[in-house]
Amino acid sequence: MPLDVIVGTQWGDEGKGRIVDLLAAAADHVARFNGGDNAGHTVTSGSQVFRLHLIPSGIIHARVGCLLGGGMVINPARLLAEIDELSARGLDVSPERLRLSSAAHILTPAHAARDGAEEALRPGGGLGTTRRGIGPAYADKAARLGIRAGAMRDPTAFGRQIETDCRAAAARLERDHAQTIPDLGSVVETYAAYAERLRPYLADVGAILDRALSAGETVLAEAAQGTLLDLDHGTYPYVTSSHPTYAGALQGLGIGPRHTRRIIGVTKAFQTRVGSGPFPTEVHGGAAQRLRGSGENPWDEFGTTTGRPRRCGWLDGALLSYAARLNGLTELAITKLDILSGIDPLRMNTAYEAGALEDLSELQAAIPSYVDMPGWPDDVRTCRSWRSLPSAARDYVERVQSVAGVPVRLISVGPEREQIIDREAAT
Ligand code: IMP
Repeated sequence: MPLDVIVGTQWGDEGKGRIVDLLAAAADHVARFNGGDNAGHTVTSGSQVFRLHLIPSGIIHARVGCLLGGGMVINPARLLAEIDELSARGLDVSPERLRLSSAAHILTPAHAARDGAEEALRPGGGLGTTRRGIGPAYADKAARLGIRAGAMRDPTAFGRQIETDCRAAAARLERDHAQTIPDLGSVVETYAAYAERLRPYLADVGAILDRALSAGETVLAEAAQGTLLDLDHGTYPYVTSSHPTYAGALQGLGIGPRHTRRIIGVTKAFQTRVGSGPFPTEVHGGAAQRLRGSGENPWDEFGTTTGRPRRCGWLDGALLSYAARLNGLTELAITKLDILSGIDPLRMNTAYEAGALEDLSELQAAIPSYVDMPGWPDDVRTCRSWRSLPSAARDYVERVQSVAGVPVRLISVGPEREQIIDREAAT
């Protein structure tokens, strides 16, 4: 005991990395369980800004072990680039600290090529995927055609397997989409070299975590993306292909639920989305720009992975309550409360008509029921306790909590580590 799980309650980009960073200080292990390098976490530590795609943000804490679960899809080139960058910045990213599940699936050059080709065929401009090959990699996994990380134990055979897979995919891409896959000539050597470097990292992640939890160590499980992008329960088909939920954490790490202590849902104080799909509380023009920021700061609303400006809108409390139910949240963490300073009035959707959330594919037709709340002019970035927040800000947080039906424990008022208020630590 215990397992603490951190999930996003929106369409990703909620600031989960920040909350992981905060809680990792008291954890023994941080484990990522879904997705691949479609994700992006920005973590600020002093003057250093880390942008991570695969490796959990816990790596920044020297004594914490980091694990990549079997529910993930791994681009080996990207993983090695991250290992090299973190090492160059003085962090220990050795196989003693970082473990990769043998059950994770490997992204090949064919997956990225297929992602682009399939997007082009979809009506209405496609799903707006990150084009990292995530959907095709999970499709191959479900079709039982995928190549798992464990295959890297034999680098030469692995290189050949990747080549055979890519050549077959290339023929289909040529035939169906008139497209080619670049650099296939050296794919055996390239992937054999990746495997040579990555095989020391391979491990049975579920067994390691089970041993750790049984020995009383603390494990933080970290989701990528958000609940509303879940393949089963999100705004299908405008979703990712994995399970960024509490259930997805157990499945993606290969552990059972009995050690669970906290299930923390992270929500921004407003709503954002990148890519296509329904977003009933979206705003446009100046209001959207105000929430998005100019792009000058790393925490402005531009994609960490793709650089795309994020769509912005009012907090959707009805969807937050849906995410709370689906994940069995025990608490909420609200990020970016400081961004709302100076906006008056503030709006929040508190409900949709009965049945509107039965199938999130139909969400675009749902009509929000807004409440307007007074804003606050004050800069809250220096607030360090619940009581020091302006009363209108506390009212806003209380309203979020009552609409979601889950207590708000953590509130972030800026990008730095110390700009997080823990309501249980100080009043
Ligand atoms: P894919 O995961 O690249 O297949 O993209 C599917 C959808 O999920 C697209 O709308 C993406 O913009 C979105 N998406 C994927 N990863 C993230 C993320 O880390 N944050 C926010 N949106 C994401």
